[in-house]
Amino acid sequence: MNLEYLSGFGNEFASEALPGALPVGQNSPQKAPYGLYTELFSGTAFTMPRSEARRTWLYRIQPSANHPAFVKLERQLAGGALGAVTPNRLRWNPLDIPDEPTDFIDGLVGMVANAASEDPSGISIYTYRANRSMQRVFFNADGELLIVSEQGRLRIATELGVLDVAPLEIVVLPRGLKFRVELLDAQARGYVAENHGAPLRLPDLGPIGSNGLANPRDFLTPVARYEDLKQPTTLVQKFLGELWACELDHSPLNVVAWHGNNVPYKYDLRRFNTIGTVSFDHPDPSIFTVLTSPTSVHGLANLDFVIFPPRWMVAENTFRPPWFHRNLMNEYMGLIQGAYDAKAEGFLPGGASLHSCMSAHGPDGETCTKAINVELAPHKIDNTMAFMFETSQVLRPTQFALECAQLQTTYDACWASLPATFNPNRR
Ligand SMILES: [Fe+2]
Repeated sequence: MNLEYLSGFGNEFASEALPGALPVGQNSPQKAPYGLYTELFSGTAFTMPRSEARRTWLYRIQPSANHPAFVKLERQLAGGALGAVTPNRLRWNPLDIPDEPTDFIDGLVGMVANAASEDPSGISIYTYRANRSMQRVFFNADGELLIVSEQGRLRIATELGVLDVAPLEIVVLPRGLKFRVELLDAQARGYVAENHGAPLRLPDLGPIGSNGLANPRDFLTPVARYEDLKQPTTLVQKFLGELWACELDHSPLNVVAWHGNNVPYKYDLRRFNTIGTVSFDHPDPSIFTVLTSPTSVHGLANLDFVIFPPRWMVAENTFRPPWFHRNLMNEYMGLIQGAYDAKAEGFLPGGASLHSCMSAHGPDGETCTKAINVELAPHKIDNTMAFMFETSQVLRPTQFALECAQLQTTYDACWASLPATFNPNRR
């Protein structure tokens, strides 16, 4: 399948799979072209400032309203309820991909969250594992989904078109958008941040200027593509954290044309224009922000998606790994490939770590000792892609995350080997 994309971020896109399917000059004519039904898909309140508003007009074979009652599914999302609160630093080995048939929904496992699904802010973080394509269609009423692919290519058929996503790419699916995740490889694994707050957007650039970090033209939105299928289809939704389903007699991926800015998009993390020091010290990791979901407090993020890509290290007379730190913000990290420069071992692709508000962390003993003693020369950190979901409210692990065999019980020990080097007689 040859897929086409529209380039840009936050644009008022327009796309039609049949010529003339988009009405001209108005949104909701008495008779839409081709006998289509008109439907408005809103991602923000009607009265948001224009710069914040997200909405898309859909022209579809059947309106979404044509469905029977949803029934709560017996099989709910894995991960369970949130577990006990802990201030401890946590780290997990990658979760195995199950042997039994598992689609994207069955394979979603809740790891941490800082809000109930009905809260209008906060995030929930999942791992996904899958070994077969979805035979059903899903939408999430609880928030926007940011999917970080770690292993296995995905083809995501959405109401607005089809996106192919490979490791080192991310995809963002607006709240409520219907989609089906198909596997292009035998299995797939990755991370999902469910954003209950304001939709993700590009960060402001301040003194960096009008270019840099993630550039708008590298964000790709699919073109309209529809399924005119009269066959039984299960439509699943997540509503306030619970899975519900109904049976349709047609495919709900039946939008023939659309225009608007409430759209899915993908982004290749290798396109990130990484910016760092060319003198000494290094900037705060906010310099690596790809996307941000702001709160009502200026500068305080509900969710920052931050990456640590390959980059040159040239800082003179500088401790080059991330400094030791204690932050207000809460950091959930994952690794897509290679190794992360602050950890010598134990942080694996597909694994994760959680450093909560004011929990002390930084490079492990081995990395720290090496960084203090190494002869500094320009060198490139290569073959790596780590990322962070950073959020202003404390994340609580799920029962599963606290009890699973992948939780590393000896994580604290990676800082225990820091040697005592203080000598009051030697400056
Ligand atoms: Fe940190």
